[in-house]
Amino acid sequence: MEYLLIKGGKKLKGRLSVEGAKNSVLPVLAAAILNSSNKGIWLSNIPRLNDVKIMYSILQELGVEVKDKETKAYLDTTGINRHSIPEHLMRKMRSSIFLMGPLLGRLGRACVSHPGGCSIGARPIDLHLKGLNKMGVKITEKQGSIEASGFPRAADIHLDYPSVGATENLVMAASLARGKTVIRNAAREPEIVDLQNFLNAMGAKISGAGTEAIKIKGVESLSGVDYEVIPDRIVAGTYLIAAAATGGEVLLENVIPRHLEALSAKLKEAGVNIETGDDYISLNGGGSMPVEVRTYPYPGFSTDLQPPMLSFLTRLDGVSRVIENVFESRFRHVEELCKMGASIERKGRMALVRGGARLTGALVEAGDLRAAAALVVAGLAAEGETRVHGLFHLDRGYEKMEEKLRQLDACIERCVVSNAEYRRWSS
Ligand code: UD1
Repeated sequence: MEYLLIKGGKKLKGRLSVEGAKNSVLPVLAAAILNSSNKGIWLSNIPRLNDVKIMYSILQELGVEVKDKETKAYLDTTGINRHSIPEHLMRKMRSSIFLMGPLLGRLGRACVSHPGGCSIGARPIDLHLKGLNKMGVKITEKQGSIEASGFPRAADIHLDYPSVGATENLVMAASLARGKTVIRNAAREPEIVDLQNFLNAMGAKISGAGTEAIKIKGVESLSGVDYEVIPDRIVAGTYLIAAAATGGEVLLENVIPRHLEALSAKLKEAGVNIETGDDYISLNGGGSMPVEVRTYPYPGFSTDLQPPMLSFLTRLDGVSRVIENVFESRFRHVEELCKMGASIERKGRMALVRGGARLTGALVEAGDLRAAAALVVAGLAAEGETRVHGLFHLDRGYEKMEEKLRQLDACIERCVVSNAEYRRWSS
């Protein structure tokens, strides 16, 4: 059993280059299915993460030949001949759901089961299915398995909520649908713009990503392409928050600062110094003023940065407030932070953080991906030793986090403990 051992209280210092975006590369890999030409797809700036490996396994199951090396991959999609995704792979990652759109576009059939992923709320997929249904796809559900058939047709779709995954699924489904599809109340996340750019490079005719109305003019076919995915704004945001939580001084490279504006604004409000250039952000100091953070779809404050931000808020003076509007159960880190001495009171979707108390090291267990990041941030800021367990979650979204943090002078290492020893520690 692996865990991270952190000797906290040391200011983060130095430079770091941020990896490619998980939430971009996963839909981009799914969209690759739409390529029916003999020309393959070359992708670069791919983060080395478990979720990416799972996506490769799913694509291979469907008949895609995948060759990957370091941060690059080559996909030969000529041999796609299956439309069913095995349940054990679906359950490993929620993103498997957005293979439905491209499978339907390419083969006119998709068979999937309800997806897995982090337990941070109910996470239904009704918007995905409703949208596909509007495009003329026939959907039947029995015993957890979803059968979809029919090539998607162009449609006017109004999403009840700007869901990121549903927007991506429908954009992919519409790329080859004859006629013009419009998706209104679409999610505006940068990863959707990246997906549009990738599909357009393949020959699609999509416009409007990044606004609330996306227009897709269906084309006959899509072809192979070379493409570099955008940097990961959530990873960049996590390292910025970690630096602020230790009162450090860091410079992050390979970032798109405008993707991090909501976070930068909050950190500045707390008194942290932030400067930005074309592709870098530098941060200095830890701030002290309490702030209120409300999560919203982009360009609002990202729900994925709420857990690490909560750890940072514990070091500010006075009472800070967090309101989680996107996922109803995304406070699994609170109990663990309290074990480290944080004073946090939860009331439904709100958390009140009484600052000023210095965190102390403890043995803590991550329950989901961003909660794991929150505990690492807390461990870096705390006095003494923190052991963060549940690294399976962390490794889904952060590439070798301990190595990156060591580049920033953190005292952190990955260790192994037997199950028996772990039970003794935690009892
Ligand atoms: C994506 C991100 C995830 C991020 C989230 C919100 C990826 C791979 N993951 O997840 O990191 O936390 O956006 O920014 O890109 N909803 C429904 N019905 C649906 C779909 C969603 O009610 O059919 C609800 C969800 O329960 C949630 C909200 O909409 O409350 C947002 O979900 P959504 O935007 O779809 O998030 P994901 O695409 O799953």
